[in-house]
Amino acid sequence: MTDGTDGTDNTDRTDRTDSPTLRDRLRALPVLGPDLPGLAVDAAPDDPVTLFVDWLQDAIDAGVPAPHAATLSTADAGGRVDARTLILKDVGPGGWAFATRSDSPKGIALAQNPNAALTFLWRERGRQVRVRGPVVPLGAEVSAADFLARSDFSRATALAGQQSTTLASRAQYRAAWDAALARVRTEPELVLDAWTAYALEATTVEFWASSPGDGQTRLRYTTSATPPSPDDPPSPGWTKELLWP
Ligand SMILES: Cc1cc2nc3c(=O)[nH]c(=O)nc-3n(C[C@H](O)[C@H](O)[C@H](O)COP(=O)(O)O)c2cc1C
Repeated sequence: MTDGTDGTDNTDRTDRTDSPTLRDRLRALPVLGPDLPGLAVDAAPDDPVTLFVDWLQDAIDAGVPAPHAATLSTADAGGRVDARTLILKDVGPGGWAFATRSDSPKGIALAQNPNAALTFLWRERGRQVRVRGPVVPLGAEVSAADFLARSDFSRATALAGQQSTTLASRAQYRAAWDAALARVRTEPELVLDAWTAYALEATTVEFWASSPGDGQTRLRYTTSATPPSPDDPPSPGWTKELLWP
């Protein structure tokens, strides 16, 4: 008897149908794309931001869908973990920038516990990046600029109602969204107070790559110091270590 993790299919299908089980279908799915550049450890720069930007630009050039979409994981004061997708706005010495409402569940969790993680998956390139560290708000000016750079539709969505609270019906949303869109169009400088740009100031950045010639490679950058402010240069002294896959 096996649990199936050794590749043995112990699913009893005789009493069901001849069509493949979900388990069969999952096992047959390809995970990574065919064109995998891997990770050249000896050529890796001393600073993880440089390598991240290099990989992100590679993913953009390769046509990876939404290469700037990432999973943001948070934990609130009670240790309750949550995760959701959001869009990366920028990367630089100040960190990995994203924006959301400060009164959303993720904004509240970040106010209680700034420690968070961003995970990027570029499956077509066989690459994953995990970024961990504290998240800081970037201030009213940066937040307003980010809000005003959003499309009319995105601004209306943010303004229409409080994110993640219970909605009575789609009709209620539609009416609020139509009103918010009209407002955005008559008040183009309107900024939502709760809209907040944040930066994740990385203390750990881990690069994972798989390629047919090299198998899996993991390279972790760690620093104990975080920049005193988002405008400061990167923390000195990143340590690079290989990890067992
Ligand atoms: C592709 C994609 C991109 C998203 N980008 C953002 C974003 O940049 N900011 C944001 O607040 N929510 C974004 N969302 C919605 C979030 O995933 C989430 O549903 C919402 O922010 C509420 O999260 P919370 O309840 O954990 O606060 C995006 C969702 C998807 C699927």
